[in-house]
Amino acid sequence: MHVNLMHVTRRTLKSDHYGNIFSLHLGSLNTVVVNSYSMVKKVLTDQGNCFIHRPTNDVIERLTKCQGLTFNNGYSWKQHRRFTLSTLKFFGVGKRSLEFIIMEEYKFLHQSIMDTNGLPFDPHYIINNGVSNIICSMVFGKRFEYTDKRFLNMLSLMSKALKLQTSVFIQLYGAFPRLMDLLPGPHKELFSCFHQVCAFIKEEVDKHRADWDPSSPRDFIDCYFTEIEKRKHDLEAGFHEEGLQYAVLDLFVAGTETTSTTLLWAFVYMMKYPEIQEKVQAEIDKVVGRHRRPSIDDRPCMPYTDAVIHEIQRIGNVVPLSVPRMTNEDTILEGYFIPKGTQIIPNLTSVLCDQTKWKTNHSFDPQNFLNAQGEFEKPEAFIPFSIGKRSCPGESLARMELFLFFTSFLQSFYLSSPDGTQTSLDFKFGMTLSPKPFKISFTPR
Ligand code: HEM
Repeated sequence: MHVNLMHVTRRTLKSDHYGNIFSLHLGSLNTVVVNSYSMVKKVLTDQGNCFIHRPTNDVIERLTKCQGLTFNNGYSWKQHRRFTLSTLKFFGVGKRSLEFIIMEEYKFLHQSIMDTNGLPFDPHYIINNGVSNIICSMVFGKRFEYTDKRFLNMLSLMSKALKLQTSVFIQLYGAFPRLMDLLPGPHKELFSCFHQVCAFIKEEVDKHRADWDPSSPRDFIDCYFTEIEKRKHDLEAGFHEEGLQYAVLDLFVAGTETTSTTLLWAFVYMMKYPEIQEKVQAEIDKVVGRHRRPSIDDRPCMPYTDAVIHEIQRIGNVVPLSVPRMTNEDTILEGYFIPKGTQIIPNLTSVLCDQTKWKTNHSFDPQNFLNAQGEFEKPEAFIPFSIGKRSCPGESLARMELFLFFTSFLQSFYLSSPDGTQTSLDFKFGMTLSPKPFKISFTPR
């Protein structure tokens, strides 16, 4: 059955207030929003091959040239995806060596927090820096000091850019690029942020090229140089110096903001629910004790802590609308015709809060991940990293970081909001959904 997009809108919205699919016009793109676990699963896995592209517009084109991984498509995307996954694995993802890198970084975080002497502070920048250092050690082959002003500025530009991306000015730029080019506004700020972050990356790439030794790759950048050599006759694959810059940008941005925002939510929920914090600490004391640091091998023995971390990810919902997709061919979804080139928004919020899938869907409840015996159990609707062939390539890295950082913090510190203040669950909306700035005290246990 072929129906046009307006037909989709009228039928679903009329029959069902919270329709499973509905269409709207966003910028210059026909867009279909997909809701509920069963529908999102259909789009991302069962019929995933028809929904694998990313949409583009003048803003994305200008920011990324549709190179690298996140906004790339077709053959070049496939080659970059394969290369990125195997290179991350080569540098430790899914292996013990990654645990070592994370725990070395924890030592720096621990010291910085000890330096606060239990006084309230805003944890955003140090957490952002600590988390970013994990992906930086794989991509740039080094970490950056928390006092490195230039790097702190990069992190702040990145956070700002992610917020600006959802500004109405960016939508307007998508619709009227030539006109908007003549006007000042947040779109100009966004371009400037990206320009500065790209300049920083280019400088790092140039330094790498100066002493590159193909026989001993130090990091992602070195491996990409080798790939450029290997693929010099395969132009379509898009491995060249510019592609390298955007591939690094993708990992740097995606590998920093999402995980650090999740940790910030973890702090917020632990301040808000001190009784849950105490239960996590009791489990850490029982399984790990106080004389050694937690290890990834402890996770199977810590069902309650594992449930709390998953619940933080579910309710924190840091990438609420995933990253948009686009139909790469005409397709039929649930009887509705969706033409090639339609933007698709998989509404992860509708899945992570789907009332048919969760014991408690709209509030914080670790029981969502525990069965009657108190064992950890993961419902199928837990998909904060998305699912299917284009799902998040950083999932296992992020999961390891979240477990090790979270348990190490709670092993050493009691987390509380400054005297007399109520912990707020207010959020800021951008490409990611993050808590509003807050202060926290870390008191040694
Ligand atoms: C809690 C942490 C994280 C969450 C919740 C998250 C979530 C997501 C989601 C929802 C997508 C869209 C997938 C899709 O279109 O189906 C995505 C894509 C992506 N993520 Fe993550 N992510 C996290 C951490 C990371 C980390 C640590 C990295 C670094 C390696 C990373 C790198 C990427 C990249 C490169 C893409 C684009 C993949 C592609 O287009 O093929 N993410 N992530």
